[in-house]
Amino acid sequence: MKKLLTAILMGGTMMATTAEAKTLVTYFTLTGNTEKAAKIIAEETNADLYKIELVTPYPAEYKAQTELAKKELADGTLPPIKPWPENIGEYDVVFVGSPVWWGTMATPVRTFLASGALKGKTVIPFVTHGGGGADASFADTAKLCEGCNVITDGWSNYGSITLGVGRWAKKSMEKATK
Ligand SMILES: Cc1cc2nc3c(=O)[nH]c(=O)nc-3n(C[C@H](O)[C@H](O)[C@H](O)COP(=O)(O)O)c2cc1C
Repeated sequence: MKKLLTAILMGGTMMATTAEAKTLVTYFTLTGNTEKAAKIIAEETNADLYKIELVTPYPAEYKAQTELAKKELADGTLPPIKPWPENIGEYDVVFVGSPVWWGTMATPVRTFLASGALKGKTVIPFVTHGGGGADASFADTAKLCEGCNVITDGWSNYGSITLGVGRWAKKSMEKATK
């Protein structure tokens, strides 16, 4: 009922309040940095967690990883990922976390963003990087996620540093639900 009243007040647009919004934190990780940030975000926003996993895992060697990623990005390959949660339709807000690969979202995350699973949802990206910053990650998230309301004011930090991520996540939720 409260949700309905909020929708009427918003002029017909269905918007959940921060307390009501069902939130999911999704992420891909190779070495654990993005996972560390994802877990903090999930705790701070009372969200569920979903780890994006490849059907065929990436090579273990860094050089092989960078070469494969470069090739996938160059030819537009979206590597198949394991199925996302069946109840994804229930979520209002979805945080999407990725390591920065060649200046953008990692290819498994691109697969997820381009899948259409997030259509109509508020999507909030965050990344960890190796010194190059978020680069095109947030703008590319908006391009890839068609029909999504992407908040491009994402969070980024170097390696496993999670400074400020909890505060940013809470502020992002306020933006997403106001
Ligand atoms: C394939 C590949 C490409 C990368 N490209 C970049 C890049 O363009 N800029 C950058 O700052 N770091 C880059 N990195 C470093 C990662 O973004 C960084 O180590 C990140 O924190 C790893 O997150 P994870 O532990 O969740 O996998 C790259 C790493 C890999 C494996």
